[in-house]
Amino acid sequence: MKRVPLVAAADFPAGSAGEYVVEGKIVALFHTEAGYFAVDGMCLHAGGPIAKGAVAGCLVTCPWHGWQYDLRTGEHALNPRLKLPQYVVAVAEGMVCVEWPETAA
Ligand code: FES
Repeated sequence: MKRVPLVAAADFPAGSAGEYVVEGKIVALFHTEAGYFAVDGMCLHAGGPIAKGAVAGCLVTCPWHGWQYDLRTGEHALNPRLKLPQYVVAVAEGMVCVEWPETAA
């Protein structure tokens, strides 16, 4: 795993959300009252922008058609078999980072 910095922690207070591209993948990053969460940024329904969804507690609602996901698990609120890939978030040297798999050589 390698640590990929996304944004300065000082610029990403609680209540923030953002969309970042890491090696061609969209990552949706959230800072909620419960901490930081990062999931794949494309909704499993039709690719809606998860990072632009409304957040209530740890639940994010896709802005396109309302699918809801638990940010703690990535699971769809009604069907846990549908699960957004998650990324581990770490804060290092003032940056909010995701742990990213090493690309196969
Ligand atoms: S694209 Fe997210 S609910 Fe349809």
